[in-house]
Amino acid sequence: MKHHGIAVETPHESAELHVTGRADYTDDLVLPQGALHAYLGLSTVAHGTIRAMNLDAVRAAPGVIDVLTAADLPGRNDVSPIGKGDDPILADGKVMFHGQPVFAVIAETREQARGAAALARIDYDPLPHALDPVQALAAGGELVVPGMTLQRGDSAAALAAAPRRIDGRFVIGGQDHFYLEGQIALAIPGEADEMTLFTSTQHPTEVQHMVAHALDVPASAVVVNVRRMGGGFGGKETQMNLFCCVAAVAARKWRRAVKLRPDRDDDMIATGKRHDFVVDYSVGFDDSGRITAAEGDWYARCGFSADLSMAVTDRALFHGDNAYFYPAVTLRSHPLRTNTVSNTAFRGFGGPQGVIVAERIIEDIAYATGQDTLAVRKANLYENGQLTPYHQTVEDQILPRIFAELEISCDYGARRQAVLDFNAAMDAAGSPIRRGIALTPVKFGISFTATHFNQAGALIHVYADGSIQLNHGGTEMGQGLHTKVAQIVAEAFGVDLARIKVTKTTTEKVPNTSATAASSGTDLNGMAALDAAEKIKARLVAFLCAARGVQPSEVRFARDQVMVGAEAIPFHEVAQLAYLARVPLSATGFYATPKIHWDRKAGRGRPFYYFAYGAACAEVSVDTLTGEYVIERADVLHDVGRSINPALDRGQIEGAFVQGTGWLTSEELVWDETGRLRTHAPSTYKIPLASDRPKVFNVALADWSENREETVRRSKAVGEPPFMLGISVFEAIGHAVASVAGYKIAPRLDAPATPERVLMAVQRLRQDGEA
Ligand code: MTE
Ligand code: MOS
Repeated sequence: MKHHGIAVETPHESAELHVTGRADYTDDLVLPQGALHAYLGLSTVAHGTIRAMNLDAVRAAPGVIDVLTAADLPGRNDVSPIGKGDDPILADGKVMFHGQPVFAVIAETREQARGAAALARIDYDPLPHALDPVQALAAGGELVVPGMTLQRGDSAAALAAAPRRIDGRFVIGGQDHFYLEGQIALAIPGEADEMTLFTSTQHPTEVQHMVAHALDVPASAVVVNVRRMGGGFGGKETQMNLFCCVAAVAARKWRRAVKLRPDRDDDMIATGKRHDFVVDYSVGFDDSGRITAAEGDWYARCGFSADLSMAVTDRALFHGDNAYFYPAVTLRSHPLRTNTVSNTAFRGFGGPQGVIVAERIIEDIAYATGQDTLAVRKANLYENGQLTPYHQTVEDQILPRIFAELEISCDYGARRQAVLDFNAAMDAAGSPIRRGIALTPVKFGISFTATHFNQAGALIHVYADGSIQLNHGGTEMGQGLHTKVAQIVAEAFGVDLARIKVTKTTTEKVPNTSATAASSGTDLNGMAALDAAEKIKARLVAFLCAARGVQPSEVRFARDQVMVGAEAIPFHEVAQLAYLARVPLSATGFYATPKIHWDRKAGRGRPFYYFAYGAACAEVSVDTLTGEYVIERADVLHDVGRSINPALDRGQIEGAFVQGTGWLTSEELVWDETGRLRTHAPSTYKIPLASDRPKVFNVALADWSENREETVRRSKAVGEPPFMLGISVFEAIGHAVASVAGYKIAPRLDAPATPERVLMAVQRLRQDGEA
């Protein structure tokens, strides 16, 4: 990793604070004197009008100061991130899902507020409810936002003419974010209309605007601060708005600080999750397994409101091809309204639910043509110059090389044969254990699909003692963004990393920021910070040239000092000299991603600046008597362009892989017929344990890759793309399942492949195999 200056395995800037428990999360902050606590009361029906609300017992409970309902909100009762007006802070007359916040209790202690909230008596007149895409379609198929269509060529004609055709339905589950730190808001009122918040959001600017609307004050009166999150994963892109608004409204009314932290159950019940989908697809192909046409309809459970469902369902379509060229294609999204919590961003932002359909299609073709799935994958990979279904030209395809290298490093060919031999031997011996192996790719588009979000700002101060304060619009959620941006700035100034202090993210220093999302945190904020650093450097160069009589080319920043001609001046002395000479040592920086544009109605454009690629090979063993499985081994080769920090990048890849595996194996959301979420705690919702990780886990970076676009240091975004590498585990389980019918029938597992589903798939294949 020597080919450029900053590819150093610097530890996460808060690593020591994290592991010693001294990192401050919002709940650790010392509360101002007289702080109050809020707790939310949630609806107990999935859909209904509120007939009567008896909150007397709540008000009379010990320690209770106030109970707020929709009528008590001074400003707008809406936190819709797209301004649609369909996301009430507190339900007003009508509830749309089981668990919707209806009122807020304000009390002296959190326990008092929480206890009192349980004493409400609310009567509802129930209305009919639809809980999932199938029910929603049967009830008329109301959409929360218009669907999208991507089309290229005449797919209907191409399907009709295809030598072979498969139609299928794939049901893909959702996922709870299960961030370790939950939703939390602390609002502290200032004088006049001022309000300051400390919270755990990926989108401080949006919280600022939502709180301003809720309080009916200008955005300039509201300050939102985020030092770090204990995980966000998309679940804190919009979901914190409501909690912040409630805390701020109570803080304004009582002129005391107010903290709101739901417990884990209420957090899981009342906040949105990954969208689950029902996808109907058709594929035409030839006898060699080459795709000639594809069609798909993505039916999404969006929940009761729009939230980010438009962008999420759009991104599902953008990735419905994954890495494969569809010569003729029509993909449609159907963002359906359901009486469930409003689903939201989650790592990959709908992309995984697109990618996995493309991989299902490949699987179907492979089993139908009697081939190794990898052969079918290779036969259908994009070639540079081909068009995606959204008419963007693929120009940076590197999967053939990634496949070739991974195939060798993980010994795919020999291990696949060993798996086949193993299964035959187990079959002969009457053992229920079967193995499966799969090697799957990911191609992920980087950029927000709403073009205007692709901008960022930064603010750098060089103090007269030579220390540097770095502020940028991105938020830290564990991914290492602050570390990477600090590395970029340290390299620009040629100084030690220790000189750079990254501050909390605050709307006071960098305004009008975008959410830290779409994996673009470093691409955007790194560039903005670099811009600010270059401005200050240019001023220092001009000053030094004038002071020492040298040319700009003779000034160089390196090794914590500035070379001015032959003279080496320590950086802190340069700062001191510049200060004395009245040189401004503070600058803002800005960046807007070039080249991208998108016309949703036409379904054409260049929504993505570039693609990030990767591949994983997973091997599993499955007990066909119980449906249980173990990940024996996983090998990953992933593309991060020129890595800014290989240690952080590997951490992101490992975490994403495991989280992607969790989505497709053990994490299952269950709503009962009344619309009540039954999986709202770790007792009923199982995320992967450390012991569930692959027994052998080899993760490598494609260290030869560099971004052909001018990203910061030619790096590539890493946060989300490797999530989809977990699909290799899902397909490996499918391979093991398929063995029970001699690999002649596609396993057609739905996701998540819980042991129950695996067992049922095994039994279905055994019956179908005999029939
Ligand atoms: N890594 C950690 N440790 N915690 C997180 O919450 N969120 C993921 C990813 N990696 C997340 C994470 C998601 S959903 C995104 S979009 C990116 O980080 C956001 O950060 P970035 O843009 O700086 O990569
Ligand atoms: Mo990530 S889902 O874009 O926050």
